[in-house]
Amino acid sequence: MSLNKREYYGFTGPMNLIHLPNNIVSLFRDSYNLPDSWQFPDIDPEPNASICWGAQVPTSLHPSLDTLKSNVWTSEIIDAGICAAREDIDSITPVHYPNAGKMIRDAINKIPSLDKNSKILIAGSVSPWIESICLANQFTNITTSDYEVRKVEDDRIKFVHANDISDTKFDLIISFSSIEHDGLGRYGDPINPYGAFNAVDEFYESLNDNGYLLCGIPVLPEEKKQRPSLIQGHLCVIFSNKSVQKLFRKFKMLDIIKQPDGWNANWQHQPIYILQKQ
Ligand SMILES: C[S@@+](CC[C@H](N)C(=O)[O-])C[C@H]1O[C@@H](n2cnc3c(N)ncnc32)[C@H](O)[C@@H]1O
Repeated sequence: MSLNKREYYGFTGPMNLIHLPNNIVSLFRDSYNLPDSWQFPDIDPEPNASICWGAQVPTSLHPSLDTLKSNVWTSEIIDAGICAAREDIDSITPVHYPNAGKMIRDAINKIPSLDKNSKILIAGSVSPWIESICLANQFTNITTSDYEVRKVEDDRIKFVHANDISDTKFDLIISFSSIEHDGLGRYGDPINPYGAFNAVDEFYESLNDNGYLLCGIPVLPEEKKQRPSLIQGHLCVIFSNKSVQKLFRKFKMLDIIKQPDGWNANWQHQPIYILQKQ
């Protein structure tokens, strides 16, 4: 399946999801196993989806914030990112996602079969921090996808719109804090009750046999993980245990890189699932 083969439900975000018709709300209930009484909370979309730019971007890329806001990735930005990834991994980690850079680097290091020519897709990227971590690790074949178009002025990274990822096969797909938004319209994506599930199925199809998926998503805290998933209006989904199992049902789960003890389980502190296509 590719994104352009997904069913269109007649609405594109951003929007307050309280205005969706009942038949679509009921598909969200089915998809996330929510009770019959469940409704979307009344949350208006932000005037600008990238409202938290400062915290969404790593501190080492803050001098380039204006360029990044215009969706342009220059060679200078990529060079600064690679340098930061080599010298201080926390400085290439978005302020919003403490510890995520280290966790992604550790997750990549757990996949021994990769080599510098392995084809890597970063699915969902506001600024090139994961790309920088990969480039600093000597990987040379990097593609980025997103619903928003990034203008990449550097040969080291190719950009492909999320709609078109099925045209190439990858050895590794890394997606961090992205699919929990898919289908809620926050980033101009079509409203889709199955968005996150479709996204993971698309990743599966875009991987070579035995390829790997590293996927960071927000999950309910341990003591609440048997509860239903939490959909915070158009903002994001926090996944229950049942939804996590449904998301990754086609993959073999190899490992989970968890946040160190003491971190809150919320959208900022996402575990990374290490999965292999089987
Ligand atoms: C909260 S941002 C974080 C992105 C990235 N982890 C970062 O820190 O730069 C979420 C992004 O994921 C993108 N996104 C959501 N679903 C996606 C999908 N299926 N494929 C690619 N990008 C996706 C959205 O367009 C948005 O730009």
